[in-house]
Amino acid sequence: MATDAAAWERLRLCVEAETGMDFAGKRLGRLRDAVQKAFPRHKTAAELDQLLIRWNQQGGCLDQLAAELTVGESFFFRNEHHFRALREQVIPEILRDNADKREIRIWSAGCATGEEPYSLAILLDQILRDRLSWRVSILGTDLNHGFLERASEACYRPWSFRQTNIYNDRTYFTPDGDAFRLTPKMSHWVRFAYLNLVKDVYPSPLTGTLGLDLILFRNVAIYLKPEVTKAIIARLHSALRPGGWLLLGETEVSIAPVGDFQVRRFEQATFYQKPRDGSVLAVGELSQPPPLPVLATVSFGPEVSLPTVPSLPEWMPLPKPKSRTNREPSRSVGPMLSVATGSAVNASPSETTTWNRIERMIAGRNFEEAARTIERIGNPSDRAPLRLQYARALLACAEIAKARQMLEMCLKEAPLLIEAQLLQAGFAEEAGDLALAEQACRRALYIDPSAPIAHFHLALILERKGDRKKAARSLATTMKLIEGKDPHALVEHGEGVCNGRLKEMVSALANF
Ligand SMILES: C[S@@+](CC[C@H](N)C(=O)[O-])C[C@H]1O[C@@H](n2cnc3c(N)ncnc32)[C@H](O)[C@@H]1O
Repeated sequence: MATDAAAWERLRLCVEAETGMDFAGKRLGRLRDAVQKAFPRHKTAAELDQLLIRWNQQGGCLDQLAAELTVGESFFFRNEHHFRALREQVIPEILRDNADKREIRIWSAGCATGEEPYSLAILLDQILRDRLSWRVSILGTDLNHGFLERASEACYRPWSFRQTNIYNDRTYFTPDGDAFRLTPKMSHWVRFAYLNLVKDVYPSPLTGTLGLDLILFRNVAIYLKPEVTKAIIARLHSALRPGGWLLLGETEVSIAPVGDFQVRRFEQATFYQKPRDGSVLAVGELSQPPPLPVLATVSFGPEVSLPTVPSLPEWMPLPKPKSRTNREPSRSVGPMLSVATGSAVNASPSETTTWNRIERMIAGRNFEEAARTIERIGNPSDRAPLRLQYARALLACAEIAKARQMLEMCLKEAPLLIEAQLLQAGFAEEAGDLALAEQACRRALYIDPSAPIAHFHLALILERKGDRKKAARSLATTMKLIEGKDPHALVEHGEGVCNGRLKEMVSALANF
C-alpha cells in the first residue's frame, strides 16, 4: 500500500523536474495547496499516483498546475532604480554600441503578464530620438500559457500601474472600461513565446534567444532551486552578445552565481555585463551551451507500476563538435555545425581547419577577412554550410544585419539547406514578418516533409497569425512524426530539443 508521504515525494520530484522550483521542506505546503486546488478530488496516495500516471501520458504536469504554482506578480516600471539605471546608463551604452547597426534585442525571461517587456518598449520609445530608424525586438517568455495570453491582450487594470502613472499618457495607453489598453504602436516591438527556462532550448536562433543586448531575469530565480538558477544564468550568459547585460531581481543579486560576468553597480541597481573581449568565449560557448542539471529521476516503488515519468534531461547537451579542434580532422567527425543548434553538417578536413581560422577571425572581430575567407572557397557545396555556420556565429555576436546578409547568400547558393530555411524562419518571425516566416517553414518542409521541427515551427507561426485550425493540423502532424520515437533522442535540426520535450510542448499547445 502506497503511503501518503511517499506519494507526495514522487509528486514533488516530478513537479520540481518540470519547473525547477523548490518544494523541499516547508515549501511542500505550497505544492500541496496548488495540487489540491487544481485537483481537489485527488487526496489519497493512490489518487496522487493516478495524477502522475496521467501527467506521464499527457507529457508533463505543467498545464494543469502552472496557474496555481507560478506567481505572476508584475507591474509597470517595477523597481525605479532598475529603470533609472536602464534609462541613464545601460540603454544609452547599448545604443552607442549598436549605433551602426541600429538594432536592439532584449529578452524578458519569465515575463508573467507582460508589464516588464512593455515597460522596456515604452522606455525605448522615450529614449530613441529617431525611433523609426531603429529595429527593436523585445521577447517576453514564460511557462504559464494563461499569463502569455493576457500579455498578448495588452490590457491592464490599475493594479499593474501601482508605481507609475504612465497610464495617463495617451501616447502609450487608451482607457478601456476600468482598464488601460496599450497602443498598438508599442505592442508592435514586443512578442511573446512559451519557454520553460528549465527544459527548453536556449540560446537558439529559432527562438530569438541568441546574440542579445540585454536580458531581464527578474523575480524568477527566487522560486528556483539554486543549481537550476546557476545553470540558467550560465545559459543566459551564452545568449548574450559580448558586452551584453543581465539584470536580476533585487533580492536575487545575493543568491545568483554570476562568476562569468563583470559586475556593474549603479545607484541601488546591480547589473551584470558579459565581458566585451568574450567573443572567443561566445563562439566557443555556442558549440556547447552549459547543460541544465538533471533534477530528478522519479522511481516508483513496487506498490505502483507506472511507465517512466518524464524524467530529465529533455534538454540534452549538444554533441561536442570535434571539428573545433585540429587534432582529429576526419570525414566521420560528426556534427560540425552545432553552433547553438545541434544540426549536423559533416565537415571535411579542409572545412574544419577553415572554420578554425574563421573562428579566430570572429574572435578578433575581423568580420571582413572572415567573409573573404569564405568567398575564396571555390566549391559552392563546401561554401554554403560555412556561410550558415558563420551566420550563426555573427548572430551570437549580435551582428544581426551581417548574419542576415550571410544567410541570404547561403540560401541563394543552397536553397535546399534545411537549417538555413529554419534560420530564415527564425529571423523573419523575430522581425514580425510572419508571411516570410511561414514561407521559409514551408520551404523547409518541401526539403524534408517529415521534419517534425519544421511542422512545429509552422504551427507556432500559424498560431501567431491567428489561423488556429491550420496550426492544430501542423501540431497533429508533428505529434504523428515523433510518436513512438525514443523520448531522449535528439530531434533532427531541433537545436538540442529531444523528442520527449517536443511531444510535451505539442500536447501543451494542442490542449491550450
Ligand atoms: C514574479 S513573476 C516575474 C515577472 C517579471 N519578471 C517581473 O519581475 O515583474 C515570475 C514569473 O516567472 C515565471 N517562471 C517561473 N518558473 C519559470 C520557468 N522555469 N520558465 C519560465 N518562466 C518561469 C512564472 O510563470 C512567472 O510568470
